[in-house]
Amino acid sequence: MNTPHQPQPTNDTAATAQAPSKPLDVEKIRADFPILQQEVRGKSLVYLDNAASGQRPKHVIETIERVYEHDYANIHRGVHTLSQRSTQAYEDARVKVQHFINAESEKEIVFTRGTTEAINLVAQTFGRSRLKAGDEVLISTMEHHSNIVPWQILRDEIGIVLKVIPIDEHGAFSLEDFKAQLTEETKLVSVMHVSNALGTVNPIKEMTAIAHERNIPVLVDGAQAVPHLAVDVQDLDCDFYAFSAHKMCGPTGVGVLYGKFKMLKSLPPYQGGGDMIENVTFEKTTYAEPPARFEAGTPNIVGGIALGAAIDYLQNLGMDNIAAYEHELLEYGTQILSEIPGLRIVGTAPNKASVISFVLDGIHPHDLGTILDNDGVAIRTGHHCAQPVMDFFKVPATARASFAFYNTKEEIDRLAEAIRKAIKIFQM
Ligand code: ALA
Repeated sequence: MNTPHQPQPTNDTAATAQAPSKPLDVEKIRADFPILQQEVRGKSLVYLDNAASGQRPKHVIETIERVYEHDYANIHRGVHTLSQRSTQAYEDARVKVQHFINAESEKEIVFTRGTTEAINLVAQTFGRSRLKAGDEVLISTMEHHSNIVPWQILRDEIGIVLKVIPIDEHGAFSLEDFKAQLTEETKLVSVMHVSNALGTVNPIKEMTAIAHERNIPVLVDGAQAVPHLAVDVQDLDCDFYAFSAHKMCGPTGVGVLYGKFKMLKSLPPYQGGGDMIENVTFEKTTYAEPPARFEAGTPNIVGGIALGAAIDYLQNLGMDNIAAYEHELLEYGTQILSEIPGLRIVGTAPNKASVISFVLDGIHPHDLGTILDNDGVAIRTGHHCAQPVMDFFKVPATARASFAFYNTKEEIDRLAEAIRKAIKIFQM
């Protein structure tokens, strides 16, 4: 019989309880990723667009196949075997997420469509029920559109005020900059842990401590942090933490909102429908406890289970090992790219994750991206859904190389070589 959980490559230890960093066997790791074994335009693929979306190992792909082939049925609704298997696997995945981010309880893990929906969920529940005209929500200049627009929608609906922490020329802000924006009216701080456009790692733990001294809750957009760092929500002490599966070896269309249980329990529902109720009559409906209260309708069942498989894979490698290796890649890439004449790195904060955004004199990032693709090198070009930060640096767009644990220094050499080739083409 195929049970929902075949032997996994790892145990469920919390990311925080891992051994000190040890070198990754990157060649072996790369063999786990079928998509990396291909040629693009006649060259072996160099995939450096991991901040937009990562790739998945066979273990995750096979989990998806196995669930659909053997275990799939709707969850929380059936007494039959398949429904029970799927329910068990989905709820096991919730526990894996709990351990991965070291949440106190699995009841604090709400499955969503992704980071964007998780932030919108907070805006529509916490925001609508707790905020009133004149209340301030504090974000930062480097935010992704998904942590700007939901608050602007609320601003237009109920008159909240959106305040913005300024950044410096390196793409960072200090705790003093942060403190200076807090007022009596600040009712929520909502900031990203790691900037997708710049790579900056923000001091979330310290910011949360400062905000909590003033009884201000903190929401963290962790989309770019969770794939690269060991995240411990109890240590950070944030009230909400949002992230997506597809940037951490999982599938698209599923993500997580972590919320402290007391906070989640105090919030009204997000969407109405099946699975989020306790009892329904035409006169009155009562709602289920969190997390079910926020999970109306049939969810992305297989996506959730596959996120659990992705967590198994990452934990087997060890998040601290991943962070250490990616830091090496970041340092190497920063050095190699800095040597290219006319190349300027945008985002030079002292504390960065594995993202290098850059511009080249006289070459538009989109043209560069196309030329690099001809060499089999995939990077992202554009505003990275962070137009205000592009405005701050007075550029319409950047080229961005973002590394994962399966990338190599040789691939960074290929990137640099392709950039030098592009410069020659434009000089002709
Ligand atoms: N927000 C994603 C990125 O940074 C899509 O590319």
